[in-house]
Amino acid sequence: MAGGIPRLTIKEFIRSVGRILAGKPQVPPALAGNELLQIILNRRSLRSFASRPIDEEAFAAILEAGRLAPSTVNLQTWTFMPFTAETWRVCFGSSIPFKAPRAVILLGDIHRCRAVLDAFPESPLVEYTLAVMNVSLAAMNMNIAAEALGVASVMLSETGRSGLLDAGYLKEKLGLPGGVFPLMTIVFGYPGTAQPPMPPKLPLDQISFTDGRYHETDPAVLQDWLVQMTAGYKAMRPSSSMQAQLRVYQSKIGRAEEDLHSMIFEAEQRTIHE
Ligand SMILES: Cc1cc2nc3c(=O)[nH]c(=O)nc-3n(C[C@H](O)[C@H](O)[C@H](O)COP(=O)(O)O)c2cc1C
Repeated sequence: MAGGIPRLTIKEFIRSVGRILAGKPQVPPALAGNELLQIILNRRSLRSFASRPIDEEAFAAILEAGRLAPSTVNLQTWTFMPFTAETWRVCFGSSIPFKAPRAVILLGDIHRCRAVLDAFPESPLVEYTLAVMNVSLAAMNMNIAAEALGVASVMLSETGRSGLLDAGYLKEKLGLPGGVFPLMTIVFGYPGTAQPPMPPKLPLDQISFTDGRYHETDPAVLQDWLVQMTAGYKAMRPSSSMQAQLRVYQSKIGRAEEDLHSMIFEAEQRTIHE
C-alpha cells in the first residue's frame, strides 16, 4: 500500500541533500572521454534561462533533430509547434514558462497519416501508444541536440496552459483536429544558472533485470528515493514542495483525462478520412 510524501527532520533533509549533491553518473573510466556519452549523462532539466535569443541556426538544428527521430514504421506521428517569446505571448498572453526564449509544443498526430493510410484501423489505444513513443523520441532527440549546441531545456507536461493537462484548451486554441493531441512543451534557452545537481535516480540493479524475470523493487530503496525526492524538491524550490506540485497535477488530471479521451478515442474522431 503506497503512503504519502514523508515529513523530514532537519537532519534527514541535510543528509538527503548531501547525498543528492554527491550523485554522479556511473561511467566506466575507459569511456569517460566520449563526448556524446558525456552530453547524454550530464544532461539536466534546466528551469532558468538567459534572456539572449537562441541562435537561429542552432534552433533549426534542434527541430531537424526532432524531424529525423526514429518512429514506428517511419509514420512520424508528430507535429511540432515552435514559438518565440513574441508568438507565445500572442497565443497565450504570457511569457514562455521559466521565461525561456523559445518553446516547442509537441503534439501526437495520428490524424495526418490517415489521409493516405489507415495503418492500424480500430486500434486507437495502439495508435495512441505508438504516437506517444514516437513524440517522446523526437523530444529526446531535440533535447540532446540542444545540449550538444550549448542550449538547455526542460520538457513540461504542466505549464499552466500549454501542456498535456490542458488538452481541451489547446484543442481550441491551436485548432487541433481529432487524432492530434498535446503531449508536452519543451522550453529552450541558454543556461541562466549553473547545472543543477542530478536528481535521485534509482540504482540500475533495481530497474534492470538480467534473468528475464520481473522483480519487485526493494521497499527500502523506494522509500529512500522518496525521501531524497522530497528533500531535493524543497532544496530547489524552498517556497514550494513536492506535495504542492502533486496537488497542481491532481487538480487538473480529471479534466485532462476526459479531454484526452474524447480527443483520442471517440468514434467520431476516427471517421475524418472515411
Ligand atoms: C514527459 C515529461 C514531462 C515533464 N513535465 C515537467 C513539468 O511539467 N514541470 C517540470 O518542472 N518538469 C517537468 N519535467 C522534467 C522532470 O521533472 C525531470 O526530467 C526529472 O525531474 C528528472 O530530472 P532530469 O531531467 O534533470 O534528469 C518533465 C519531464 C518529462 C520527461
